[in-house]
Order: sequence, then structure tokens, then C-alpha cells
Amino acid sequence: MSTHLTPHIESRLPQVGTTIFTVMSALAQQHGAVNLGQGFPDFDCDPRLIDLVNQAMHKGLNQYPPMAGATVLREAIARKMESLYGRAYDAGSEVTVTAGATQAILTAILAIVHPGDEVIMLDPAYDSYEPNIVLAGGRAVHVPLTPGSFRPDFVAISAALSPRTRALIVNTPHNPSGTAWTAQEMQQLAQLLRPTQVLLISDEVYEHMVYDGRRHESVARNAELAARTFIVSSFGKTFHVTGWKVGYVAAPRPLTDEFRKVHQFNVFTVNTPMQHGLAAYLEDPAPYLGLSAFYEAKRNHFRAGLEATRLRLLPCEGSYFQCVDYSAISDLDENAFCRWLTTEIGVAAIPLAAFYPGPFEQGIVRFCFAKTAATLDEALSRLARL
Ligand SMILES: Cc1ncc(COP(=O)(O)O)c(C=O)c1O
Repeated sequence: MSTHLTPHIESRLPQVGTTIFTVMSALAQQHGAVNLGQGFPDFDCDPRLIDLVNQAMHKGLNQYPPMAGATVLREAIARKMESLYGRAYDAGSEVTVTAGATQAILTAILAIVHPGDEVIMLDPAYDSYEPNIVLAGGRAVHVPLTPGSFRPDFVAISAALSPRTRALIVNTPHNPSGTAWTAQEMQQLAQLLRPTQVLLISDEVYEHMVYDGRRHESVARNAELAARTFIVSSFGKTFHVTGWKVGYVAAPRPLTDEFRKVHQFNVFTVNTPMQHGLAAYLEDPAPYLGLSAFYEAKRNHFRAGLEATRLRLLPCEGSYFQCVDYSAISDLDENAFCRWLTTEIGVAAIPLAAFYPGPFEQGIVRFCFAKTAATLDEALSRLARL
């Protein structure tokens, strides 16, 4: 279409362009590379879940559900959280079903951030946080996780707190580094925030992927933190259905009240049959309780294959991401290395620099191992040349 008559608009997000995920996926396709870049499974979900959604559609559950989500699903979420983390969220007033975690995070930010407010985020970070803060008129205050270990640096977080700080965003298990917060770190965070009015957004989408006998340290386990937190999770991650875009937020009533004011006039509701299908599927805890073992086996297989290369493996305590340090192989910057890896070796990865606000080179790239054994083996056979 000719656009010369389209009025000029001043961008609300002038910094945002095509994301590295899109760029690397396109490059991977163009070169026939195995795509370990973008974070989604290349295998299907449990057929039983599809049957349950189908049944819901056939039963006629196809009209608007309640604004906050189908009651059966909110009850199932509240039961799951109580059984896992020992905190009772009221399904009626403290749990809201969202169109994935991304919407949940945006809605939480729009609900609490006023123009001029500061929101602290810990880099490297998921790419939606900063544009969300900017859309709300806030300012992102970047605090790096400790380079090398990616552990929270409480001295740096404390130094970043100001009278304008409205919120802090944490993410555990962490995309992209694969670290998982400890109970002690949660305790330190609680202590740090105690004298403040700072709210917390806890992105826990990888809550069911923690390895080597660890337990997921949900904010819900910590009464003091839970009282100031929006906990966000995603069924897309947990049940291998990232394209369904169904997630949820659990937060104390005063926070949920404000959240729903924004949610109501944004998505209003999330699709009905998926919610009923998910509620029925949640009756059996085995699929989510077994997820850590399922992904731990993939992680171990992938790591064992990478051990044979000159890539240095970083720890992977949770999530479905494995980071590697390639500095023994190349002195290219991370972006150039990822391009080279895709076009010359035939495996796509994501530069860690993409998760930072400005240039930050550590010689580290991220692979996603939420892939079939065949995909991982094909990638490993190509990476064996390194
Ligand atoms: C840390 C983190 N938060 C949120 C999301 C988005 O989840 P959803 O697909 O449910 O919007 C992702 C997906 O990659 C993620 O890695």
C-alpha cells in the first residue's frame, strides 16, 4: 500500500527494532541451521491436554469467561501454589488468568508505574521488561547480575534504590543464564526491601524446571516478599504450548485489584476452552511435577555432548537454557559469533549481549535445549567441529 498519505506518528518506543530472536531465526532458516536460538519446544504437548481443550469446546465452553479467568482454572492455580509453596492465594480475589506471562508483566507494570517512576531490572533480562516500563512512562534502572556467576548483587541493587523506585523485577529460574535463586537470596531480598514501599514482579515462568535436587524458590514461599509481589507464571512453558499464550498472576488483593483494572480494558478475558482444558489437566500434578526430570535429562544429554567441544559450559540450575563461553574458540563479538555459528557451523544461538541495554561483551551465547533428542543430536554433531 502506498503510505505517503499516512500521518507521521512519533514512536512511543523509538528504540525498539527487529529483535535478535527474529533475526537469528530468519538466518537459521536461510542457512538450514538447527535453531537452538529461540526459546520454545520443537515437540508437541501431551495429547491428553489437546483432548481436554477439545472436550471443552464441544461442551460449548466457547463464550466469554469471567474477566479474571475461568473459576475452575483460578481454583486449580491456587491449589497448585498452596501445595507447592505453602501459600494460600484466594482464587476469587488474588489470582488472574492472563494471555501469557508477557501480558501479565505488561499489565502489572501499567497498573503500578506512574510517569517518572523507576523500575529496577537485573541484566541480562527478558526483552519485554524495558519497553513495558517505557510504555508506562517509567524509567528502567539497570543493575547487572554479577558478571560470571549471574548471582544477584545486593549491594548494587541497594545502591540503585531511590525514593522514585516503584518496583523491582526478578526472574528465577533465569532466562538467559539458567541460574536459580536460593532461599537465602530471597531472604536477602526481603531484608533489603523491608524498609521500602517497593513492589516486586517475580517472573517465575520456568518454575517447574529446576535441576540437581533444587527446589524452586518461589516468592510465594516468603510471606514478607509475597505481600508486595505479583508472581507471574506461564502454562506455555510448563505444558509445551508456548503458542497458546495462557499464563497467570498471583498477588495480594490490593495489588490484584489494580491489576484487574488494567486487565479488564486490555485483553478483558483469555480464551475459554484453553482455560477449561488446562484446569482439567491440572487435576493430575504428575505432568508439572515431572517436568524438572524431563528437562534435566535433556540438559545432561546436551551438556555431555558439549563437553567434547572447546565451548566452556556455564552452570545450568534451571530453565531450558544452556550458556557457553566461546572465548577459547573465537575473539569475535557475540553477535558476529552467533552469525558465524549459524552460517558456518549450522547451529543458531543467541548472543548474551542481546539481553543487556547497551554493548556488553562476555564471549557468552545461549542455547535452548527444549528440543527433541534428534534435534539436539544433530546440533551436537555440528558443534563437534568446534
Ligand atoms: C523470562 C521470561 N518471561 C516471560 C516469558 C514469556 O512467557 P509467555 O510466552 O507466557 O508470554 C518468557 C518467554 O520466553 C521468558 O523467558
